[in-house]
Amino acid sequence: MEFETVQVETHGRVGLIRLHRPQALNAISVQLIKDLSAALDALEADRTIGCLILTGSERAFAAGADIKEMQNFTYPDTYLDDFITSWERLSRTRKPIIAAVSGVALGGGCELAMMCDFILAADTARFGQPEIRLGVMPGSGGTQRLTRFVGKSKAMEMCLTGRMMDAVEAERCGLVSRIIPAADLVEEALKVAANIAAMSLPVAMMTKESVNRAYETSLAEGIRFERRVFQSQFALADQKEGMAAFIAKRPAEFNKE
Ligand code: CAA
Repeated sequence: MEFETVQVETHGRVGLIRLHRPQALNAISVQLIKDLSAALDALEADRTIGCLILTGSERAFAAGADIKEMQNFTYPDTYLDDFITSWERLSRTRKPIIAAVSGVALGGGCELAMMCDFILAADTARFGQPEIRLGVMPGSGGTQRLTRFVGKSKAMEMCLTGRMMDAVEAERCGLVSRIIPAADLVEEALKVAANIAAMSLPVAMMTKESVNRAYETSLAEGIRFERRVFQSQFALADQKEGMAAFIAKRPAEFNKE
């Protein structure tokens, strides 16, 4: 798979997408979103891929939307072209996807990371929503997702001042799941992703869908959704295999169906 602004690698059942605009700290252009969406479509259509990783370079996951490209957009441009809506493709990814963040994840970069299922952060990672300093506010979910991750007080401070937080603060407030030495970030993300990709693919996807329900509905509705999906999993060969393997004291071999 060849793209102008993203690089795609497969490692066994793991698909790794690397944002690649080194001259602009992976600033998110219209082309980058097109390439990212096409890479996601291809990896999602491939049944041999069980987990995805989205990463950037050591210096930058992504420094936000491309300011040079956006500068002269008019309101009709943004409205008629529905600017930014296409970024939501990432949040509709059905397979598990991990953000592996090294360096800056600012503005739209932080928003892309938050659209993934969880964030592994290098000790060099810095997160922020600095849009207000450009005379705009976050436009791809930052005011909503950051608030759900870290609560009102910190989200409000970050969005109103544009202050960056480092990896330690990001882990403390629940924005990232774990901090990893920068040199080991991609290797560790590949290990975590390989572990997920070895699980039953439909069960991993259903688990993701069910956890995401927690953010979209009431507790009672969420529990009902979880129960229905859990019950349906007894129709999967992977359930029979997983439980038989436990009882036979052997490793389970999923994804044979
Ligand atoms: N858009 C376009 N180009 C960008 C960019 C961006 N968001 N961020 C960095 N670049 C470019 C710089 O212009 C520079 O290019 P030139 O070499 O051609 O001058 C190159 O990348 C390297 O950047 P710096 O020289 O600035 O590097 P630095 O190490 O001094 O600073 C930084 C790094 C703190 C990340 C700084 O680049 C920066 O503040 N970037 C902008 C961050 C930002 O405001 N992001 C929010 C964008 S708006 C948004 O995302 C809206 C939304 O919600 C969707």
